[in-house]
Amino acid sequence: MKALITGASSGIGRDIARCLSKKGYYVILVARSESKLNELLKDLNGNGEILIADLSNDSDVDKVISKCLTENIDVLVNNAGFGVYGNFLATDINSELNMLKVNVVALHRLTKEVYKLMKTKNDGHILNVSSSAGLMAGGPLLSSYYATKSYVRSLSLGIYEENRRDRSNVHISILCPGPVNTNFNEIAGASFNLKSLSSEYVAKYAVEKMFKNKLLIIPGFTIKLGIFFQRFICTKWLLKIGYRIQVKKGNGF
Ligand SMILES: NC(=O)c1ccc[n+]([C@@H]2O[C@H](COP(=O)([O-])OP(=O)(O)OC[C@H]3O[C@@H](n4cnc5c(N)ncnc54)[C@H](OP(=O)(O)O)[C@@H]3O)[C@@H](O)[C@H]2O)c1
Repeated sequence: MKALITGASSGIGRDIARCLSKKGYYVILVARSESKLNELLKDLNGNGEILIADLSNDSDVDKVISKCLTENIDVLVNNAGFGVYGNFLATDINSELNMLKVNVVALHRLTKEVYKLMKTKNDGHILNVSSSAGLMAGGPLLSSYYATKSYVRSLSLGIYEENRRDRSNVHISILCPGPVNTNFNEIAGASFNLKSLSSEYVAKYAVEKMFKNKLLIIPGFTIKLGIFFQRFICTKWLLKIGYRIQVKKGNGF
C-alpha cells in the first residue's frame, strides 16, 4: 500500500504521513524542504521516500504526477498550501499567484491524474485539504486564500457526486479544519488569535474519517458549531464578523 502526501515537511501533512505510515503505508513525502523530509523519513524508519518538489512550478508538478502513476498509489493527500494575509490592495500579487498555483493548480492537476488512475483500478482514496475557510462566506484580509479553499471544496464536491453515480470504489474526502497550530500563520504573515487544534489531532481525525469514506471532514466541535450556525446569519454580517476576527491576526492592515 502506497500513499503520496504533499506538504509533508511540517504541520498537518507531516502528521498525516505519520498516521499513514503507522497503518503500514509506504509513504512518498513531497515538499521543498529536503532536510525536514529526511528527518521525518528517519522517524518513520525509512519506510518511504522523499520527493523534492516546488508545487508552484509546473514541471515539478509533472514530476509528482508521474511518481503517483509509476508507483500506482492507493492514497493521495493534497495537503500542501499556504495563505497570504493582508488587505487585497496591499498584498503582493506574485505571492498570491504562487499561492494559486500551489493551493489550486497543483491540487487540481494531481486530483485529475490520480483520480483517472484510481478509476481504472476502481480503488483508492483522495483527501483534499481545504479549510473551514472554504465553507465560509468569504475571508476579508485573507480573501484570495479563502477563495482557493472554496475552489478545493467545490471541485471535490462535484467530483464526489460524479464518482458516486458510477458506484465507484474510489473515495474522495475534503478536510476542512479551523485554526491548527502549525507554521501556517507565520508563513501567511499573521499571528494566532484563536484557540487552535494540534496538527496531531487533526491528522489522526482526518485519516480515520477518510478511511470511513467521509465526504466532509471537520475536526473540532467549535468549528462544526460555527459552520452550522452561520446559515442563520446574513452574508454581510458574516463578513463583518470575519473581518473583526482576522484583523486581530495582523498589525494595522
Ligand atoms: N494551520 C491552519 O490553521 C490550517 C487551517 C485550515 C487548513 N489548513 C491547510 O492545511 C494545509 C497544511 O498547512 P499547515 O497548517 O500544516 O501549514 P505548514 O506547517 O506551513 O505546512 C505547509 C506545507 O505545505 C508545503 N508547501 C508550501 N508551499 C509549497 C510549495 N510551493 N511546494 C511544495 N510544498 C509546499 C510546505 O513545505 P515546504 O515549505 O517544505 O515546501 C509544508 O510542508 C494547507 O493546505 C493549509 O491551507 C491549515
